[in-house]
Amino acid sequence: MGFCPQCRSTDALAEAAPVRKAHSGGSVDVVAANAPRTTVKDRNAVGLSELDRVLGGGLVAGAAILVGGEPGVGKSTLLLQAADSVARSIGPVLIATAEESTHQVQMRARRVGITSDDVAIAAVHDVDDIIALASERSPALVIVDSIQTVSTLDTAGSAGGVAQVRDSASRLITYAKTSGTPIVLVGHVTKDGSIAGPRTLEHMVDVVLYLEGESDAGLRFLRSMKNRYGSVNEVGVFDMTSEGLAQVPDPSGLLVAHRDESAAGSVLFPTIEGKRPLVVEIQALVVATDAMQPRRSVTGLPPQRVHQILGVLARHGNVPLASREVYVAVMGGVRVTEPAADLPVALAVASAVHDVPLKRLSAWGELGLTGDIRPASRPAVRTAEIERISAGPIVAPSTDVKRLLDALRAAGLSAG
Ligand code: TYD
Ligand code: MG
Repeated sequence: MGFCPQCRSTDALAEAAPVRKAHSGGSVDVVAANAPRTTVKDRNAVGLSELDRVLGGGLVAGAAILVGGEPGVGKSTLLLQAADSVARSIGPVLIATAEESTHQVQMRARRVGITSDDVAIAAVHDVDDIIALASERSPALVIVDSIQTVSTLDTAGSAGGVAQVRDSASRLITYAKTSGTPIVLVGHVTKDGSIAGPRTLEHMVDVVLYLEGESDAGLRFLRSMKNRYGSVNEVGVFDMTSEGLAQVPDPSGLLVAHRDESAAGSVLFPTIEGKRPLVVEIQALVVATDAMQPRRSVTGLPPQRVHQILGVLARHGNVPLASREVYVAVMGGVRVTEPAADLPVALAVASAVHDVPLKRLSAWGELGLTGDIRPASRPAVRTAEIERISAGPIVAPSTDVKRLLDALRAAGLSAG
């Protein structure tokens, strides 16, 4: 500029060359990879054990954490409750809400019973405003809800676009790293299960957590998909209640508590969720129909897999399924992807067809197309979980044939 746009004087401006950063000139720390007892420093437990479990023990200074999930699954609720816990055990929390008004967040806070005075809510959309606010208040945790609704003026395009999401996240992560403040970014998940916006978002952060759940009320699973500070095989279990999310330290007990043992078409299955065993109930319903193509309905399992099991049952198990509708579901809104669910699904369908209740029987094993049953991983863990909730006989590939037949006969299912 030829003159100062404010005072109009021509000689008030002085030239300043941008300072070029010299490289650090050999003062880089080089350490041995096998140093003893290398632990993550500055890890603070949030105080919600199901969340701490998934985080690998708690919040790490400067960590960037992405919490993804479908709309309505309970991300904002979970983080509000986490904020309350952090505020009481670590320090003040700043929630930047770009999606809801402060009033809406306050209403939710009342509903879930937030008691700490140190959870501050601010309705801000501009990332630089969020960072300014955080720098001014220096909270122990910053929550940005959501990354798809914040933007920075320096990047073109509207909030939620690829460039905005990437640049906004990048600034917030830089803030986390330079200030040492852990930051949580909420991310929406699209129908195909990926976090909307660039895939790079997952590469940029240190921790990626997904909150999943099927039904409106019911269980929510918080899974760790990536964790630079801990294991990725951790799962936290919560229950959505009218007063927010309740932690579920014993999901197996909860899932089988209301089960009707005298009903046909129900089998227990000890599945492995990450590191954790979880006993779920698999149910089947079989109804006669005149339809040319009998209906097959599957909830909580891969439908293809169930179709395959029905084929194996019809061909190798003498279970008549033509002109019968078949419904198969995992109860409690749990999603099971393990092939080890094949055998309990087959037994539940057989039990429904023959109208024979299997009572406390539990099973696991993968079914081959030739009707063979294959072992599944970690049988000891599965057995221990079944024994813990004092369920009944187990039918599994490791069981020898005689015991297997005895178990089935004892349950009254001995056809074929
Ligand atoms: P929310 O946390 O807003 O979901 P997200 O941020 O992932 O979009 O949760 C919304 C759902 O949770 C909504 O359908 C209502 C339900 N809910 C409860 O059942 N109990 C509660 O105490 C709260 C706060 C929400
Ligand atoms: Mg929300």
